[in-house]
This record gives sequence, structure tokens and C-alpha cells, in this order.
Amino acid sequence: MTSATTSTPWDREKAAEVIAAHQNLEGPALPILHALQETFGHVPEDAVPLLADALNLSRADVHGIVSFYHDFREAPAGRHVVKLCRAEACQSMGGHALAEGLLRRLGLDWGGTTGDGQVTIEPVYCLGLCACAPAALIDGRPLGRLNRERLDAAVNEARNDWSTP
Ligand code: FES
Repeated sequence: MTSATTSTPWDREKAAEVIAAHQNLEGPALPILHALQETFGHVPEDAVPLLADALNLSRADVHGIVSFYHDFREAPAGRHVVKLCRAEACQSMGGHALAEGLLRRLGLDWGGTTGDGQVTIEPVYCLGLCACAPAALIDGRPLGRLNRERLDAAVNEARNDWSTP
């Protein structure tokens, strides 16, 4: 599915509901964190003590999980999320230079968002598109055999809300 990111503003009751809905799963921390991120667009700092209490973990434990997994964001993403593959097949096909070039042109570090709030660049570690390396996912749309021109065009297309066919 191709869409810009959307999220619900912080709501303590909503967060408590999300936590309670997954709390009895085996190994509930990751499903809860995914559900929180799905709901709020990131894992809000205010959700950390709620989750820690619910799972009898320390806040440091929860922070450790959030920072260990690249999928979790500690701040809201921009309207469009560009995930650039940093795994081996893509790196061997020029993925590193491709990513570094885009980050440089946008003036961002990994996980950063453009000043207009439009584009966030995140790393991802294999999209299953190794045969089409280097690959990326933009707003959920898989893209392969990227070069600078194709990547810039796709990012611009996303910024224009995918209005071009
Ligand atoms: S290594 Fe990039 S898609 Fe698999």
C-alpha cells in the first residue's frame, strides 16, 4: 500500500488500551511497541513508563528495546518515509553511496526528517528485493535498481503525494 504516514496525537488512555490489548501475548513487548507505533506514528516517550509498568520492566529496559530495533521511532516521522536498504546485496550494488548522497542532498542523518516535515530517511536491512538491488521502500512502495536519478524522482514524486502515474 502506498500512503503518506498518519498518526494519532498522544492519548494516555489510547496508549493504555493498546498495551492492554497485547499484554497477555507471549513476548508482548514487541507487539505492543509495534501497535503503539502504528497508532501514534512513533513510540511516544510518555508510553515508556506505561509499558514498563505493564510488563514489570524498567524504563531503561523499554528504552533498550526501542533503540535496539531499527523499526521503532522515538520521534514522529515526516509525511513520507523513505527506507533505504543497507544490507549486503544492496551495499554491493552501490547502496551506500546512493544513501549517503540522498542524505547529503537533503541535509539529513539516518532517522532525520526534512525541515518541512515532508521526508524521513530510515535504514532497513533487506527488503527481499536483493535481485533488484539497490532497493528502497517509499511510503510502502518497493523500488529496485535505483540510481541517483530514479531515487530523487521517486522522493519528489512522494513529496507531490504520488500525483504522477
Ligand atoms: S539486501 Fe537490500 S533488498 Fe536484500
